[in-house]
Amino acid sequence: MTYPVPGNPIDRIPKVELHCHVEGTVRPSTVVELARKAGRPLPVDDPADLYRYDSLDSFLSIFWLVQETLVTRDDWARIAYESLVDASGHGLRYREMFFTPARHLAAGQDLAGIVAGLTDGIEAAEAETGVRCRLIADIDRAYGPAAGLELVEWIGELRRAGRAERVIGIGADSTELGVDLRAFEPAFAAARWLGFRRTCHAGEAVGVGPDNIRVALDVLGAERIDHGVAIAEDPALVREVAARGVPLTVCPLSNVVIANRYRQLSDHPLLALRDAGLLVTVNTDDPAMMEHDLGREYRLLGEAFDLDLEALGRLAREGIDSTWLDDSERRSLRAEFDRA
Ligand code: ADE
Ligand code: ZN
Repeated sequence: MTYPVPGNPIDRIPKVELHCHVEGTVRPSTVVELARKAGRPLPVDDPADLYRYDSLDSFLSIFWLVQETLVTRDDWARIAYESLVDASGHGLRYREMFFTPARHLAAGQDLAGIVAGLTDGIEAAEAETGVRCRLIADIDRAYGPAAGLELVEWIGELRRAGRAERVIGIGADSTELGVDLRAFEPAFAAARWLGFRRTCHAGEAVGVGPDNIRVALDVLGAERIDHGVAIAEDPALVREVAARGVPLTVCPLSNVVIANRYRQLSDHPLLALRDAGLLVTVNTDDPAMMEHDLGREYRLLGEAFDLDLEALGRLAREGIDSTWLDDSERRSLRAEFDRA
């Protein structure tokens, strides 16, 4: 397979990404076109002006606006395709990618069409770039636990019918404030029973401590934690999670820019958590909404923590340990990274 060969040495480092929302990767020019096509004019002339926020919840209101421009199977195909083609230029080789369809389902879209569209786009991008991608269906917590359970059951039905083979996991995202994560236990129990892998955003928002991480692990049975940075406040939980081998999918720049949890990247606990024995991966979360990309994430980390190209390469390679690939797929991905 021929990957694009990026000019920049940090972009050339092969990477996996386990925490990236497809709706947060839509090119601004595509948002404008889709909004026009959907008859939902944007409140600004320049899409770059859309992305102004100062907290997770104010960010989410913009994320939802972008989601509302996605109407047809072709829209979903287009954003998945563009997302992977764009990331392949920054070294992406394998991604487990979120989509969060609650808003669309509430508006009457068919889940089968959404999954089929994403699959079309992924297959086209895979054929063109060699990047591989699987999907994680995220529960939008703002829609409540009953909608979450329905989503899981519906995805389960599609998979039984052979129409959702790309969807390997279930997650939960969106707002963290004022949400009782325990209420999502039936949805996560169903996900487990149906054979899906399970992950959960927890310990991201300002004002949230490590409690949600504990609930995600012990009540929801999450096998990975998305963000999870609040764990740094609880050394006993750090030791326990390290011993259990549960990875954190960390999005350092997002925690500065979107959640506003750290003033600057050098305040981020990513490396301290890794030094404490946790499995951590580096991810972009919603790159297009921060004028960001996966190569830049590594570059900024390198600058903030004085990591050279080799150290960044090791960090990227460690990400393979946290994927939901099977052992032989992991081995071949490691070999591919080593060759590069
Ligand atoms: N949806 C998209 N990005 C998110 C984030 N950073 N946290 C929670 N939900 C999200
Ligand atoms: Zn996220």
